[in-house]
Amino acid sequence: MNRLPIGILGSGKGSNCRAILERIRSGHLAAEARVVISDVLDAPILDIAREFSVANAYLPPGQFRTRLEPEVENELVKMLRDAGVYLVILAGFMRVLHAPMLNAFPRRIINIHPSLLPKFPGLAAWKQALAAGEAATGCTVHFVEEQVDHGQIIARREVTILPNDTPETLHARIQIAEHELYPAAIAEFCEKFAALGL
Ligand code: GRF
Repeated sequence: MNRLPIGILGSGKGSNCRAILERIRSGHLAAEARVVISDVLDAPILDIAREFSVANAYLPPGQFRTRLEPEVENELVKMLRDAGVYLVILAGFMRVLHAPMLNAFPRRIINIHPSLLPKFPGLAAWKQALAAGEAATGCTVHFVEEQVDHGQIIARREVTILPNDTPETLHARIQIAEHELYPAAIAEFCEKFAALGL
């Protein structure tokens, strides 16, 4: 079976990246991690890539706080293309992507968000759900579009909010759900990719 070439982008601890790489290693995900790229020099996600012997790179983001400089975003496109990446997976990547990436990988960039979108887009979504008094929240895998956390929904998983939940306990359970949901959603891309016979 043709393995789906993926590239993973992240800025932080990389627990979703680890879950994906573990599923690949154990033979449960027909993907091939070509590269892991971070905009943060000492991000743990880069250590995880090294642990799994996956090519990895630090991409200096430039002068902006929430986006990449256009030349840097063009460089990112080149890095991913040179690595032969078909599907781009955002795993805690804290920069908004714009035209260079969105045009280069149309409907081939996905993200995971810690709420049941369309509810609670934006930062610390689990805190938003707690503050709103919801009975349940969860996580969502979606296509990436210019408007943050608004692309077409691919898959969602619900997590019950318990009466004594703190932001920390709730976030931890959402992350456990993420580590199941993200590889499962990627597996569907793997099947479609294999069927294409590329
Ligand atoms: C996840 O909770 C995800 O929902 C959000 O960023 C976080 C990344 O966590 N987009 P990790 O770096 O994968 O542990």
